Amino acid sequence: MTDIQELLLSHIRDVADYPEPGVMFKDITPLLADPAAFAALTDALAEVGTREGATKVVGLEARGFILGAPVALRAGLGFIPMRKAGKLPGATLSQAYELEYGSAKIEVHAEDLSADDRVLVVDDVLATGGTAEASVQLVRRAGAEVAGVAVLMELSFLGGRERLERILAGAPLEAMLRV
Ligand code: PRP
Ligand code: MG
Repeated sequence: MTDIQELLLSHIRDVADYPEPGVMFKDITPLLADPAAFAALTDALAEVGTREGATKVVGLEARGFILGAPVALRAGLGFIPMRKAGKLPGATLSQAYELEYGSAKIEVHAEDLSADDRVLVVDDVLATGGTAEASVQLVRRAGAEVAGVAVLMELSFLGGRERLERILAGAPLEAMLRV
């Protein structure tokens, strides 16, 4: 494990049986509260965008907003929010998906992405991959290309990587940590 990985991992708190019995919640708030760890994570995620020639960063509500916005600024790119249903005022594209617990729908302003864009999708956790998969579908339906998906943490035992790689068509899935 690298020094940065150790720094990140040491600032993530495991919370048993939240929000439901049997779920081990990965609480990233200690990481957000530590400027050195937050900056290291932001730099590492921004590097993926730069390396892959991204033109926009898409953040996934809610925790993907917290990580994605500073990543966009650090990489010198625009930030596009993908929001849960009913929160965006303009013309939206929308995509339903299943969560580890429950189901949901995400939306994006159709005008925020175009055929000229290469998008880095940023989120905190890849679990079953349902959220990230929906985001990839939405980016493509908006006419843009997916440059990659970058997350703080991948929960390998839930198989999200296999699910996502089937639709990523060679674009990278970068997880700073795999647990
Ligand atoms: C969580 C997490 C990821 C997603 C991962 O979001 O932040 O976005 O689940 O799960 P998946 O890979 O199985 O789709 P959630 O919508 O639960 O909460 P948030 O609004 O706090 O980000
Ligand atoms: Mg989320």
